[in-house]
Amino acid sequence: MQPTPVLCGIGTSLPDNVVTNDDLAAYLDTSDEWIRSRTGIRERRVVRPGTATGDLSLAAAQGALKSSGSASVDLVVLATTTPDHRCPATAPDVATRLGLVGVPAWDLSAVCSGFVYGLACAASFVRAGAARRVLVIGADTYSTITDPGDRATRAVFGDGAGAVVIRAGEPGEPGALGPVSLGSDGSLRDAILVAAGGSRQPLGGDGAARDGRYFAMRGKTVFRHAVERMTEAAERVRAEAGWSGTDVDCLVAHQANLRIVQAVAARLGVPAERCALTIERLGNTAAASIPLTLADAACSGRLRTGSRVLLTAFGGGATWGAAALTWPDVTPVAA
Ligand code: COA
Repeated sequence: MQPTPVLCGIGTSLPDNVVTNDDLAAYLDTSDEWIRSRTGIRERRVVRPGTATGDLSLAAAQGALKSSGSASVDLVVLATTTPDHRCPATAPDVATRLGLVGVPAWDLSAVCSGFVYGLACAASFVRAGAARRVLVIGADTYSTITDPGDRATRAVFGDGAGAVVIRAGEPGEPGALGPVSLGSDGSLRDAILVAAGGSRQPLGGDGAARDGRYFAMRGKTVFRHAVERMTEAAERVRAEAGWSGTDVDCLVAHQANLRIVQAVAARLGVPAERCALTIERLGNTAAASIPLTLADAACSGRLRTGSRVLLTAFGGGATWGAAALTWPDVTPVAA
């Protein structure tokens, strides 16, 4: 019989540096009231100079491995838009720092949907019998790619990392991953964009290239498509799992904006009190937002063994994805 992918460990890492809305308002033309009412965010964590995505990834991964009860895995997938370097990938370095020399490791680029894409990847390797234990990390440091002078993006994003271990198990076990649905639409490539630094617009000495080095976002377009696609993908996996809206014990939607999460929940018929939320304290942590929110929900008692969990995400590309799982008996480990 085909093995079932089962979540068996979860870890997190957050920078200790808290940046409040008032801190931003001290140097940007914004206010706590504007940011809270439009996004639901009060504060976010931001790395200090010298801390990279790989450092947060390492700490979150150590937590996930400890939480899973074993330090060994067959595969490492790191979802990020903010790798330590343009080249090579960050995952091999993280794997080596974990003592996993020789283990295949790669970065996965699906922006804020990256963690769900990573889960799908892990699940496929496990189902195919090609891996018994996979480490999936979602980590980002958007403070390193947003323009310090751009109030729109600076207010929305925060830094952080979360990781899970997926092992081969049996159907029906708590932690079992159910259906997964992924999608993309490249016609939205300009809605979320770091224009320069790739092969289409290499970073050179000219001013035009420098202008494109920061993360740019068409907020309203992203908002609209995020609600539609996150809802559609979640509907698909929920139907495949045979769950109704009220069968969902916990909706863990990518923490893009409080209003996006609320709109998705309303469309899915999931009661608002069943939405796990970290956006107020962490902002949008991109690929890290789902594992960070899962860990938070588990620590607060919102997730219990056997809880039916629906994950859904939307990111630049555009990409989107959703997954269903039941919650295992695990204790999250925070670095
Ligand atoms: N403080 C004060 N004003 C701000 C601001 C801030 N932090 N950010 C943007 N504004 C201003 C804009 O400059 C604009 O001013 P203008 O009318 O003078 O040009 C005005 O507010 C309206 O901007 P707009 O982008 O239309 O606002 P919005 O209501 O759509 O809210 C977002 C902006 C970013 C909060 C919202 O679009 C959003 O959350 N989008 C989704 C973002 C997201 O989730 N991205 C990641 C997805 S994976």
